[in-house]
Amino acid sequence: MPTQVPLPPSYHEAGEAELKRRIEAARERLGRRLCILGHHYQQDDVIAFADFTGDSLRLSQLAAQQTQAEFIVFCGVHFMAESADILTAPEQQVILPDLTAGCSMADMAHVDDVEAAWPMLEAWAGCPVTPITYVNSSAAVKAFVGRKEGACCTSSNAKLVLEWALHGARPDVGAPADAGHKVIFLPDQHLGRNTAYALGWPLESMAVYDPHQPFGGLDEETLRRARFILWKGHCSVHALFKPSQVEAYRARPEPWNVLVHPECTWEVCQRADYVGSTEYIIRTVREAAPGTCWAVGTEIHLVNRLASVHRDRTVRSLAGVQCLCSTMYRIDLRHLAWVLDSLVDGRVVNRVQVDDETRHWARVALDRMLSLVPSQPVSAR
Ligand code: 13P
Ligand code: SF4
Repeated sequence: MPTQVPLPPSYHEAGEAELKRRIEAARERLGRRLCILGHHYQQDDVIAFADFTGDSLRLSQLAAQQTQAEFIVFCGVHFMAESADILTAPEQQVILPDLTAGCSMADMAHVDDVEAAWPMLEAWAGCPVTPITYVNSSAAVKAFVGRKEGACCTSSNAKLVLEWALHGARPDVGAPADAGHKVIFLPDQHLGRNTAYALGWPLESMAVYDPHQPFGGLDEETLRRARFILWKGHCSVHALFKPSQVEAYRARPEPWNVLVHPECTWEVCQRADYVGSTEYIIRTVREAAPGTCWAVGTEIHLVNRLASVHRDRTVRSLAGVQCLCSTMYRIDLRHLAWVLDSLVDGRVVNRVQVDDETRHWARVALDRMLSLVPSQPVSAR
């Protein structure tokens, strides 16, 4: 993880109103040279300054469309800023306000472990293997996947990309769904399992590869029988949601709708009424009838924002505990003010830049994904 230099003391001394004033002034000075992107899990204070908000797919697409902006300040986590750098023109500079804003799930698939696993997987699989990586992965892992003729996916298009991997990725194999090759899904075993299951594949068709075990904890026979090899990674935030919490809501006298992100475990998703990406979660609550009750299984900032926007519906976190993404939370007004003030002073700090070779192959994997999903029109928030 890159190191973050300590902020100058004035950013710690400034109060909230002063930081907001500085951010607003810098935005005005930078004008169209600047675009601020904000992921749905960001704090309200930060989201208030975003030119565009979205889930990781929408933000990848938006980054690619910001051809005028010289500086793209990405209020999200490191892998998102890397994706934006890969998709934007080389002269555009992507900035992450706090370089320690990583993703624990992305860190669970190190490219050296993925490369080390590959020869055994290919040899034991007995057929071609297509790698699919969730965008919550490093640029290096995306590049590996691009080189191996695979693709990226997000939580909103994982079904589409898995179907492509099973049916369309290898026209040379020409395999119908029940015959040909296998898919390795990185790094989130839960998104992989939930998606394959939703496409009609039984749990027995899936095997978990544990990078901390010799041979991934698998034997040749298990691997040969499996259709999906799920990398043993998970999101530490969504792992906090449990089947018992769904059952507790079911036991309440009033009817509750349970709506969860597909990074939750299979057991939670099976008990939920609705499963989908952050964008899907927002749309579902927005379109719900007044008076309805929603227990939502995703990061707390998004849940709280939905509750305050839709006051005529009851929106609560599915878990009693605070399910906070502590790395997303590192992006705050202080860091945002600091990167913007630096730009005004002519200094680019915290640039996230992917090297050319990695960029090329990661882009191949991202472009394969983007070619499968219709591009959404750009509209400011
Ligand atoms: P979305 O793709 O739904 O925005 O999710 C990204 C993420 O990091 C969820 O944990
Ligand atoms: Fe990563 Fe989970 Fe945070 Fe999303 S919520 S950025 S998957 S740690």
